[in-house]
Amino acid sequence: MHSSTNPTASAGGRRPTGPPAVRSGTAGKTPPAALDPAAPPQQSRDAGAPARPSGDDMDPRTERARNLWNRRAARYDLSEALEGPVLRRTREILCAGARGRTLEVAIGTGRNLRHYPPQVELTGIDLSPEMLDRARERADGLGRPVRLVEGDAQRMEFPDRSFETVVSTLSLCAVPDQRRALEEMYRVLVPGGRLLLVDHVEYTRFPATLLERRREHPRRLPREVASEVGFEVGHHDRLLLGLVERVVAHRPT
Ligand SMILES: C[S@@+](CC[C@H](N)C(=O)[O-])C[C@H]1O[C@@H](n2cnc3c(N)ncnc32)[C@H](O)[C@@H]1O
Repeated sequence: MHSSTNPTASAGGRRPTGPPAVRSGTAGKTPPAALDPAAPPQQSRDAGAPARPSGDDMDPRTERARNLWNRRAARYDLSEALEGPVLRRTREILCAGARGRTLEVAIGTGRNLRHYPPQVELTGIDLSPEMLDRARERADGLGRPVRLVEGDAQRMEFPDRSFETVVSTLSLCAVPDQRRALEEMYRVLVPGGRLLLVDHVEYTRFPATLLERRREHPRRLPREVASEVGFEVGHHDRLLLGLVERVVAHRPT
């Protein structure tokens, strides 16, 4: 895992490298109470456990994902203007809920950077160095300090309990092992820390189910997997005809 703090240069020439309720259709309207930026951050009891070991080896599916996103990086932001008000508003709402040391998992080209409160101490991780290059340019343009790290969401090198907030937008569906990534998000969050998530969900209706089965990484409902790994889901809702799920959860204290 390689990292850099924007706008500093890469090292060695290599890119360093809430509350319960189920509501729906609220995007673009009132932010859910669970995302209230005024809510106090929950503090760590024990920050700073040792980093997990990791090797340079990468499983073939993850390597294919990295190659794919490296290829897509140059074109990725062409679709930004087409994203639509619902997703744009969702990005704003989720990021406004970030507090303290915040990790954005699979930050991509940094589309969320402009939405974070200035006091947030931001780190972004992504598998693709090409996506990170664009995130770095965007952060420089915004004057937004961010530590950018090249690494795999399925085995992050951050110490246990090192972030108060983890954010992930439209990315879990791109990660080969969604459950493993959520386990990692849980691990790096402090007890009481917050998970802010929006993602595409699996197709559950015929004939779209046929497409789902052909996907290399079949998708599941993020909130279900989050619950399985130990998160307490405080809020979830579905947007865009149910194709996208938004989840606010926390690691129990
Ligand atoms: C659809 S893009 C979303 C980017 C960004 N989160 C956004 O909202 O625009 C998916 C991102 O997931 C990243 N990604 C895929 N697998 C990953 C993994 N195992 N670890 C970290 N990032 C990964 C890709 O490199 C890509 O940047």
